Formats: sequence, structure tokens, C-alpha cells
Amino acid sequence: RDGSPIVIVSNRGPVTFSLDGSGDRTYSRGAGGLVTALNAVSRRQEGAVWIASATSDEDARVAAESREEPYEVEDLRVALVEHDADAYDLMYNTLANPLLWFVQHGLYDLPYAPALGDDTRRAWEEGYLPVNENFAAAVERVLEGNPQGGGEPIVLVHDYQLYMVPHFLRERLGEGPFVSLFVHIPWPDPEGWRVLPRYVREGVLQSLLRADVVAFHTDRYARNFVRTAREVLGVEGDEEKGVVRYEGREVWARAYPISIDPGEFEELAASDAVREQEGPVRDLPGKLLLRIDRTDLSKNVLRGFQAYGRMLERHPEMKGEVTFLAGLQPSRGDIPEYAAYAEAIHKAVEEVNEEHGTPSWTPIVLSMEDNFPRSVAAYKAYDVLLVNAVRDGMNLVAKEAAVVNEKNGVLVLSETAGAHEELGEFAVTVNPFDLDEGADAIHAALTMPEEEKKRRAEALKRQVRENTIEEWVEAQLEDITAYRKARG
Ligand code: G6P
Repeated sequence: RDGSPIVIVSNRGPVTFSLDGSGDRTYSRGAGGLVTALNAVSRRQEGAVWIASATSDEDARVAAESREEPYEVEDLRVALVEHDADAYDLMYNTLANPLLWFVQHGLYDLPYAPALGDDTRRAWEEGYLPVNENFAAAVERVLEGNPQGGGEPIVLVHDYQLYMVPHFLRERLGEGPFVSLFVHIPWPDPEGWRVLPRYVREGVLQSLLRADVVAFHTDRYARNFVRTAREVLGVEGDEEKGVVRYEGREVWARAYPISIDPGEFEELAASDAVREQEGPVRDLPGKLLLRIDRTDLSKNVLRGFQAYGRMLERHPEMKGEVTFLAGLQPSRGDIPEYAAYAEAIHKAVEEVNEEHGTPSWTPIVLSMEDNFPRSVAAYKAYDVLLVNAVRDGMNLVAKEAAVVNEKNGVLVLSETAGAHEELGEFAVTVNPFDLDEGADAIHAALTMPEEEKKRRAEALKRQVRENTIEEWVEAQLEDITAYRKARG
């Protein structure tokens, strides 16, 4: 690398600060696959500064302190941004999650969703835009205060909460810095994108095209993006080459499948915190069918339970021979659709358990808490891992779990998860909407001959170990160099 300073920007940060019992500042690690991955980037790039939203009272104090100089925690340098609380609420709870996330995951309910009107415009103007501008201002401050290294800075912006950051960055800093925007969620086809009000669908596209590279996890999303830009904005673009021309500049649309740090997960798997959680997982009767997800509508939790119920109907001999452990972390609970989904999940579990359970056997064990060590303990022990998302940018659970699993466990994988492009050949593929297929897939995975399981599990592990987060970072840095060269 040429010594250019690197700034990472994401809404969710690597750590959340709080006060401990004696009033001292302490912190906990941020959750979610994105944060885990960016951690690896940040640690690899010496001097990199990571800008994220302040989400707690103590975060706000760190934000004030880090205006001048990034705050150092472990080997990370973070600068937290405090937003106006109402603006943040509109950004997160109205615009980014129930609208952009829903539209991009195909969750937007075409016949019944509430009409897009004044509330949407207000959330855009008074929430999404100011929060994004606040981030751009923070990038400018960091670059002014910390001219680490030589060369033009590299600004790596992440995900759908921050689509307007490239726009505000160019307004403040001009064409100098290299800017990439990594979209970690699916990109729909142009018809899907057109659901959004004109000012959102055009505003976002114009901002993304002011970046130098727009990055995705799969080729399909990158192609969808180029088509969307062409059809919605009427600009010139080539899907095969992954190039869009906008305002006389060339923008690259590229795929870099995100991954994990296998070493980190192996260490975790061997840690005391994880070992302590192994007992309760081991004590569950029969084979272990596992799912680990945020409680999100995109994860298709209800149909997962229904497919399992159908499998038990068709194969009563499996009763008592398997337990389905569902570890679902609470997520986005202030959004009504998410709260309703969590309730529906409880009901679906009750239904299956009432219908199929016996005094000595509970078919589904539901754990709705944020217990990462317990999830990793379950990763080690599953016989079958169910990843049946309706749509998913990548899905890192499939990769994390595969590397530490000790049972030659079988992956049942939705054909519409981003991970399928890379891992499909080692998995049992399912159409996430088809309950019959789901039931058959779960049964086939539970009864697969040992030889076949071993062959697949080993190939899956190899695939993840050979394509780590290091490769993910490296590929992007190489393209940045190539892009700058091509630009001259
Ligand atoms: C997904 C998104 C991330 C997000 C994470 C957790 O992985 O791509 O941007 O941070 O979910 O969601 P949350 O709303 O808690 O940040």
C-alpha cells in the first residue's frame, strides 16, 4: 500500500462504551457480521481510523473527546459521531431499516405496505440526510486532524445506512480522496428499486455514482446495480465489465465476497467462555439442527419452523431423534414489523412443540438472547445448520459455523443467500419459500451418510479457510491501486 491514510465509516461501530460498577469507562464488542469483518480490516491497516455512530451515553462522551483525536481502544482507533436523537431515530427506524432494508431484501409488501408519503419525505430530509452529512463532516475532521501517511486518503464507507455519504464527501472534499461504498445487502433489479420514491431512488444512485467503486458481495448484485443505474438514471453502463459512466467519470461496480478470520473463530471456539456453554447444548436430545440469526424478517424463521414441522409429520420416526435449537438475537425492536415478527416466532414455536412434542422431548428450543459464546458452542456441535434466508447479502453464520464445527455438520442453504454463489456446491440447496423442499432438505441432511457428510464438510471448511477476510481486504486494496492507475 502507498501509505494513504485509511478511514472506515459505518453506522454500527466496533465497540460500545458504558460505565462499570465503579464508574470507570468500559466497553463491549459491537455485534453483527459486518463489524467482525471490519475489525479485521482496521487491525490490518495501521493507523486506520474507524468512524461510527455513538449509540450510548458513554459513547457520546467518547464522541466529544474524539473530535480532536481518534480514541484508542485495544489496537483500534475510533472516532464516534453523535447525532441528533430525533434525526437518528428517523434515519434508523423509518428510512434505513423498514424502507431500504425491506426493499433490498424483497420484504416490501407490495399490496399492503403503508403508502409512502409525508413520513417518508420527512425521514429522508430530517433523518437520513442530516445523519449522513454528519458522517461526512466527521470524515473531513479526521482527515484534517490526522494526515497519517502520504497520498490521497482512502475512505471506505459501509452499507445502506450511509448511501448519501459519498455525495456529502464530494461536496466537502472534491475529487481527491478515493471513496468506495460497500453495499452489504442484496441489490434488487431495477423494478425492485423503483418502489422507492423518486427523490430516494435517484438521490441514492447519484450519490453512489459519486464514489469511485461501489462494492457488493456477489456478481449478481453488482450487475443488478449497473442495470438499475442505467434504467433509472438513464446513464451509460456495462454490466459485464462492471462499469458505469456518470458525470464524465468511470465508476466501478465490483463483487468482493466477504469472509471471516478463521483463526479468530478457532481461538474463540477453544476459549473458556465458549466451553462453559457447551453443556446445555450437548444435553439436548438427538441430533442438533441449528439456526443462529438476528431476529430479522429476511431470515425466514417462520418457514424454517414450518418446514421442520412438516418433516416431523412425514417422518414420525425422527421424533425424539433431533432437536431444533434456534438462537435468535433481538434486533431493531422499535420497528413495529420486527416486534410483530418476534411475536409470530414465539407462536410458531409453540405450535410445532404442541403438535409434535412429547413429555420427554421438545422439538424446538428457542433462545432469544444475545449470547455469542453460546452461539459458538452450538456452531461446534450442530449436525445440520439451517440458513434459509429469504434473501441475504452474504450470511456469515454459514462461514463462521463451518470452520469450527466438529461433527461434519451439513449446511442447508437458501439459494437466494449471497453465500450460495460461493458455498452452494457443498450444501443442500433450498428454495426458502417451498416448505416441501425445506422438509426434504432437512431430512436429507439429518440422514446423510457419514462419508458424504465428511466430504462436504471438509470441502466447505477448505473453501472458507482459503478465502478469508484477508483476501477480501487485499482484493479491494489491489483494485484501488488499479483504479488510481487507470485514472492517471
Ligand atoms: C446487517 C447489516 C449491517 C448491520 C447489521 C446489524 O449485517 O448489513 O449494516 O449493522 O445487520 O444490524 P443493526 O441494525 O443492529 O446495526
